[in-house]
Amino acid sequence: MKFFIDTGDIKEIREACETGLVDGVTTNPSLVASSGRDFKSLIKEICEISSGPVSAEVLATDTEGMLKEAKVLSAIAPNVCIKLPLTVDGLKACKKLSDDGIATNVTLCFSALQALLAAKAGATYVSPFVGRLDDIGESGSALISDIVTIYDNYPNLKTQVLAASIRGPKHMLDVAFAGAHVATLPPKILKQMYQHPLTDKGLAAFMEDWKKTGQSLV
Ligand code: G3P
Repeated sequence: MKFFIDTGDIKEIREACETGLVDGVTTNPSLVASSGRDFKSLIKEICEISSGPVSAEVLATDTEGMLKEAKVLSAIAPNVCIKLPLTVDGLKACKKLSDDGIATNVTLCFSALQALLAAKAGATYVSPFVGRLDDIGESGSALISDIVTIYDNYPNLKTQVLAASIRGPKHMLDVAFAGAHVATLPPKILKQMYQHPLTDKGLAAFMEDWKKTGQSLV
């Protein structure tokens, strides 16, 4: 499973990428707004930190406007991935961009049928929002599983399922079991994934016992 970091915070992105465990970055208009940064310069800086796909979302809601904005965003760096909403206009733009070999991430996906259309449009990634479905009493991880099952029926489909709207480590476990190809997670969840009190306790005990030997390796 690939891990993308879902934030517009440069410091968090740098820290996460330095672990060597991060394969890309996703942003969205809300994350860009909360960064307080100029959109294009923020995406440029992120693309310099992460060599993986960096999702930058269009703001237009009509196909022509999306294509115009996609041109501007793609020119920022070769690893920019154009994020498009899963609307009919977004799907039309996705088809054109995908036909031109531009990487695309179709976002705000909430159903398997929407995900099937994203694959038909040639999307590189489709982003089902797990947390927002759970928020309304549905099962985000069940949707991931359904999409993966459907996609597996058609080996020619190249779209990767990118689990988004991840709210905690349990979501990461659920989407991994469901077979997501990618998950995009807030930086704090990456930390929660590797932190465990028994690991800390066990390491401290090893160090305590080792100190008693009086030895050192180097
Ligand atoms: O990339 C989509 C993600 O940022 C949305 O997450 O928590 O706002 O549903 P959330």
